[in-house]
Amino acid sequence: MTRFDEKGEVKSRVVIGKRVYLRPLAKEDLVYLRKWSDDAEIRGLTGEVASMSEADAEKFLEKVRADTERAWFMVVIKENSRVIGEAGLLRMFPAWRTTDMSVIIGEKEEWGKGYGTETILLLLDYAFRQLNFHRVAIGVVGFNERAIRFWEKVGFRKEGIERDGYYYDHKYYDFVMMSILDDEFRELHGGNSS
Ligand SMILES: CC(C)(COP(=O)(O)OP(=O)(O)OC[C@H]1O[C@@H](n2cnc3c(N)ncnc32)[C@H](O)[C@@H]1OP(=O)(O)O)[C@@H](O)C(=O)NCCC(=O)NCCS
Repeated sequence: MTRFDEKGEVKSRVVIGKRVYLRPLAKEDLVYLRKWSDDAEIRGLTGEVASMSEADAEKFLEKVRADTERAWFMVVIKENSRVIGEAGLLRMFPAWRTTDMSVIIGEKEEWGKGYGTETILLLLDYAFRQLNFHRVAIGVVGFNERAIRFWEKVGFRKEGIERDGYYYDHKYYDFVMMSILDDEFRELHGGNSS
């Protein structure tokens, strides 16, 4: 059973790691979400279609708060409280114990320092151990080779191609579908199997 509260909702909470922590999205974070959505490179790599207006960002916050199929977090560096990204679970389907995942380290000068990996390990731990999911999946833009390597390193496996699933800059690209299962996560990253 997935551990949801009495209303069937997952309560976002603070998840604390060694160098970063994940905390629920607040209104003050909308400025970051807009900044990252304004970045054409990040939009291309993640499959976002358009940048967010202030009104879009406010709607997104409302949607995240109301959406029982989503657990969304801001990624913050512990040492200096710098907000560097967003990450979360979406399309959570407790009946099947399956969910999708997403991460953006939006502050690009923080790329390649291990923050993305720590974020995903925290989130996978949250998904598998706290919420008791069985499968976590991700769709990666086919040309985002860096992200594909990143997910493989954490333990995700390629499971298929969504042909021409992504239209970007007047061309079609594939999505690479990847996933990790609870026992694979435990085998790679430890922990008990309760
Ligand atoms: C993909 C992303 C989340 C990775 O986070 P990160 O903090 O930069 O990654 P880490 O420092 O934890 O690195 C983990 C692995 O990613 C890959 N990686 C990191 N920096 C890289 C670089 N400059 N070039 C190629 N691969 C790189 C490597 O495999 C690396 O492992 P290694 O350092 O042992 O070689 C981050 O770069 C990002 O948000 N990119 C833009 C949005 C995006 O692509 N999101 C994913 C959508 S599916």
